[in-house]
Amino acid sequence: MASNKQDKTAKLAYKTFRYVLDRIYDPKIQNRVIRLGGGYPVPGLLPLPKSFTENLTHYYSTGGQKERPGYDSEGGNILVRQAIARYENRKHKTNYTPENVALVAGATYGTNRILEILFRNNSEKEVLAVAPTFYKGLYRAFSLCKFRSIVIPANQNFVPTANNILSQVSKKTRVVFFCNPGNPSGKYIPQSEIKKIAENLNRLGVFLIIDEVQDAFSFLKKDYRYGNWIRSANVIRIRSVSKLFTLAEFRLGYVIADKKIIGDNHRGLIELVGYDIGNPPPVLNYFFINTLADYPKQWDKIMARRKNLAMKLLKQIPAVKKVLEPDACFNLTFKFSSWKFKTDLSLFNALIDKKVAMMPVSGFGYDTKECWMRLTFASPDHMIKKGVEVLSRLLKR
Ligand SMILES: Cc1ncc(COP(=O)(O)O)c(C=O)c1O
Repeated sequence: MASNKQDKTAKLAYKTFRYVLDRIYDPKIQNRVIRLGGGYPVPGLLPLPKSFTENLTHYYSTGGQKERPGYDSEGGNILVRQAIARYENRKHKTNYTPENVALVAGATYGTNRILEILFRNNSEKEVLAVAPTFYKGLYRAFSLCKFRSIVIPANQNFVPTANNILSQVSKKTRVVFFCNPGNPSGKYIPQSEIKKIAENLNRLGVFLIIDEVQDAFSFLKKDYRYGNWIRSANVIRIRSVSKLFTLAEFRLGYVIADKKIIGDNHRGLIELVGYDIGNPPPVLNYFFINTLADYPKQWDKIMARRKNLAMKLLKQIPAVKKVLEPDACFNLTFKFSSWKFKTDLSLFNALIDKKVAMMPVSGFGYDTKECWMRLTFASPDHMIKKGVEVLSRLLKR
């Protein structure tokens, strides 16, 4: 097993994240917690449109034994892969083909299988993680390879520049990993910076893994779009239905990359998935083919309203020094200053003792003494109000 003693940032982030999740999801209090921390919408906030539920239950509502998919191809149903390539091409003005797509059992699973492939005979090489980030999805890297983090400061809104990343690449670097939009920041990285990063890494023979799970509920006026340059042979994009369609329980995502990485039943990702879980969950086949492009736009408005409410309430608290507005998804970050709580973790503990869940950004690899918290606003108004009220009272003392 490769030693990762060198990356204190990642180790500490994992430890904190684990501790925080275990407290938030403690079965003794789980149902009574005001949920502004879990990074997932409270059930009922976004009722699934009828078109979703019909397509999700298709096989069952038709009752047709013949139509049920049961097992399916190792890389995913070909019609689904075609639908995904079409969807991506429309979204990003690209020319992907189904050979660039493999279905996986959620983004976390996809990322870890990709790491397995890339580090199979390269355990002395490193993954360079751009923090603060969702380390949880990178866990396998600990046992597969070396691990190094670079931390992007809050005065850059946690958004890396090409220079931040390229100046840190070493001979050991085999993979650069970041989330776009960022988790916890919810900020997109400008496309021009990603283009520069992808091109330069390609020249150096370094892969770029982009976790796009938070690319949902956009608050931007203009659609965020890459362009065909994103098809660079070294870029591996990971996507999932977990946030975009709030269907995390279906454990389905896809990897979109060069066909050498995607492979087939005899090589690459599809071979690995095929001999690992057999095939990704086919239960969403019909949904994907029919609904992928039908993302309910009204969800963006529901989220935008919650975001504005949470931001307004937070800004009324004198001890809250900065609120960072996200571009997408349902998390925002804020900085506090308090004589009583000198770390984000101490505030987390005080909040959870009062049954309010918010995440300390140290769980994503930021300095705990910098006192940044992540608030998930995918909750009903009364929860946002109550949670922020408790926060305000704690910070007043
Ligand atoms: C950035 C990021 N990647 C991956 C995941 C997990 O995705 P999945 O449920 O598809 O494994 C999450 C969930 O919070 C996330 O925020």
